[in-house]
Amino acid sequence: MPEYVLGHHLKGEGRRLALMSELLDPMHRRYLQSLDVVKPGARMLEVGCGNGSISAWLARQVAPDGRTMAVDLDLSLVDVHLPNLEFGKDDIMAGLVEPGSFDLVTARAVLHHVADADKAIANLVASLRPGGAILLIEPDFLPVTIAEPPEVRVFWSDWLA
Ligand SMILES: C[S@@+](CC[C@H](N)C(=O)[O-])C[C@H]1O[C@@H](n2cnc3c(N)ncnc32)[C@H](O)[C@@H]1O
Repeated sequence: MPEYVLGHHLKGEGRRLALMSELLDPMHRRYLQSLDVVKPGARMLEVGCGNGSISAWLARQVAPDGRTMAVDLDLSLVDVHLPNLEFGKDDIMAGLVEPGSFDLVTARAVLHHVADADKAIANLVASLRPGGAILLIEPDFLPVTIAEPPEVRVFWSDWLA
């Protein structure tokens, strides 16, 4: 896709992102906690941060001396403010956020929206410090393409197409 299709201005988008946070943040946090780079003093980067719920959690984990950077094409649905949390309006396809700077880079439900996921991943990896960790979480759409009832299946098949 040449551009992001679910713009934050769309009706219901704030609610959709809030539901994603409610549903997925516990799992995302568990994976992050299993990485020993998420600790006080560290530098974190979340790309495609949506409403910023995971970035805010990361900022609290690395406080008081660590910093979290949260990047998205559109920051209009962000509603968190913390002293060690910085937001940037950036397109991850356009280039590196800060080369060689972060102990952790994470993105959730972002890469399936970009035209060239390999290029995006290369940009994310290049933002890591040596020894840093990257955590990428993407949906598996297979279940929705075999879902019932048929109207639901048709909706998702058309959406994916
Ligand atoms: C489906 S939402 C997921 C939001 C959040 N990560 C979550 O899981 O709740 C995808 C997010 O990625 C952002 N996004 C899409 N393409 C992007 C790009 N090229 N660079 C930065 N952010 C992007 C969108 O603006 C949107 O906030």
